[in-house]
Parts: sequence; structure tokens; C-alpha cells
Amino acid sequence: MRTCVYPGSFDPFTIGHHDVLEHAIAMFERVYVSVLNNAAKHPVFSVEERVDMIRQMVEAEGMENVVVCHFDGLLVEHARSVGADYVIRGLRATMDFEYEFQINALNRHLAPDVETVYFMASPEHSFLSSSGIREIGAMGGNIRGLVPDSIENIIAERLRKS
Ligand code: PNS
Repeated sequence: MRTCVYPGSFDPFTIGHHDVLEHAIAMFERVYVSVLNNAAKHPVFSVEERVDMIRQMVEAEGMENVVVCHFDGLLVEHARSVGADYVIRGLRATMDFEYEFQINALNRHLAPDVETVYFMASPEHSFLSSSGIREIGAMGGNIRGLVPDSIENIIAERLRKS
């Protein structure tokens, strides 16, 4: 089965992540949305909250070939553990390139058999970031259209309390 892992912090999951996920669903038979358990980054949403939110969206949208999970440690080890030969990443603009270039080189060194595939963000999403959404939400601003509709209320409510 053609399987990929779509990893990220997803703190929170945005409409830009959703766009990338739709591309992955169209190309792969199984897609793992894998939330990094990154306590060191001090995420606003706990790993359980992020996994639950994304699962809720996946169920609401009937995305049958998507599995939502979390991982610790090395991404390439996680990809191997779920039988994925591919990793998916989204690119918004040149600002993402340097970082992605670096982690691509490191991941290739660790696991030449795991290929990373990049999707360019739609121009209308190129300005989006989880950190921007966190800031707007924490200040009571409207995040409609910036996060998937099915989880907008949960995200907005949680950010208001952050
Ligand atoms: O959404 P993010 O924070 O840009 O995602 C970053 C992620 C999860 C892809 C990256 O931090 C990662 O792969 N972390 C796991 C640790 C790892 O494998 N490190 C080696 C390559 S840098």
C-alpha cells in the first residue's frame, strides 16, 4: 500500500495544513497525520488535544484513508514503523525552504529509503501560520477561514483561554 506520513507540530492544524492533506490523500492510499510530541516547544495545545482535533476533522470530512497519531523521536523511524516510504511537507514560500532543505538532508542521511515529497501552498494560504492563528485567537480575533470549519469552534474557544 502506498503510504505516507504527514508530520508536524499542528499547533493548531490550519487550513493550509488541510490543503496539503487533501493533496496527499489524492496521491497516497494511506496517509498518517503524525503529530510531533514536542513538549520542548511548549505547544499551546497538548498532543492529545491536537490528535483529537485532527481526528474530529477527519471524521467530519469522511477522510477514510487518513490515520491520525502522534510520535516521539526521529521522524524517519516513525515513518518506518508505520510502513511509510514517503514523508509529506508543505512549502509556503522561500522562508520555508532553508529549514526544509536542512531537515531533508538530515533525514536523507538517516534514511535514504524514505523520500520527502513537497506540496506548494496555494497562494491564498501562503501567509498562514499556526503561530499567527494562535496570536489572533488568544486576542479574541476571528479565525474563521484560517482553520478547518469542523474544528474552528474548538480551536477558538481553547485559544481564548490560553
Ligand atoms: O510543523 P513543524 O514544527 O514544522 O514540523 C517539524 C517536524 C515535526 C517535521 C520536525 O521537527 C521533525 O521531524 N521532528 C522529529 C525529530 C527528527 O526527526 N529530527 C531529525 C531531522 S531535523
